[in-house]
Amino acid sequence: MKKSKNKKKKIAVITGASEGIGASLVGELLHDNYEVIALSRNLKKLSKLKSAYPKYKKDLKIFSVDVTNSSQLLSVSKEIHSPDLLILNAGIYEPVSIENFSLETFIKQSEINYLGVIKSFDAFLKKMLINKSGIVLIMSSIAGWVGLPKASAYAPTKSALRLFAQSIRYDLAKYNIIIKLCSPGFVNTKAVKVNDFKMPGLIEPNVAAKIILKNLSSKKFEITFPWFFSTFMKFLTYLPDNLSYKFIKYVTSYEKEK
Ligand SMILES: NC(=O)c1ccc[n+]([C@@H]2O[C@H](COP(=O)([O-])OP(=O)(O)OC[C@H]3O[C@@H](n4cnc5c(N)ncnc54)[C@H](OP(=O)(O)O)[C@@H]3O)[C@@H](O)[C@H]2O)c1
Repeated sequence: MKKSKNKKKKIAVITGASEGIGASLVGELLHDNYEVIALSRNLKKLSKLKSAYPKYKKDLKIFSVDVTNSSQLLSVSKEIHSPDLLILNAGIYEPVSIENFSLETFIKQSEINYLGVIKSFDAFLKKMLINKSGIVLIMSSIAGWVGLPKASAYAPTKSALRLFAQSIRYDLAKYNIIIKLCSPGFVNTKAVKVNDFKMPGLIEPNVAAKIILKNLSSKKFEITFPWFFSTFMKFLTYLPDNLSYKFIKYVTSYEKEK
């Protein structure tokens, strides 16, 4: 049977789309017949991404946007229809060492990872409320579940996103908007190159993107993977604090690193 040419494509907006998990999601969404609005700061990287998908030239729109800048986000929102899928993915990871403690790294990660998500959400929210439909996917992390070495600036931003998503879920339900939290384990991107330890369950970004999209239509609030590592980390959250602390310190050999 011939496909109807006039069938309107679903629109996906994704922040942090120029590389890593975001770029893989762009590819998967294009294959899934979405019109994709890809945002990140670096237009060069975005243009490279666009040229990687010549077949989808018309379906991929790129915009240079910093998620800490509300007016840049709002100007993109003005140019497009209400998103059917809003993926708030932009984020950075900078480890903390007590010897080089820097307030800057806390401020930067909070502004991008937490407030950047809230600003992006705010920019597209009105349209979604009027449309009374859509999915919002918030990129958190397993690192937001339990305190981990070196993650004292990063982990709280991801934990805050969890509570944001859990809380706003009640309000969005009235407007038929579904909110989902995504909590990946280790994904092999630029962000984890700073890690000098063996990352258990490390997966490739294209695998992560496939898992995320496969679970988009499920009833699950939280999408987490890979299965073994996430189940193990979930188990740690059920332990008393002193026990999980001792255990994590032991398996990461944290004391020996000093
Ligand atoms: N990799 C992992 O193991 C892992 C695990 C759990 C959760 N996550 C989360 O997954 C998300 C994607 O991470 P990734 O591993 O794919 O990292 P990545 O490869 O470093 O990509 C990060 C993306 O975010 C964009 N970005 C950073 N700061 C931005 C800003 N101020 N405004 C707009 N875009 C910005 C970057 O693009 P520009 O530089 O062009 O702006 C890039 O496209 C992050 O939220 C991260 O915390 C990652």
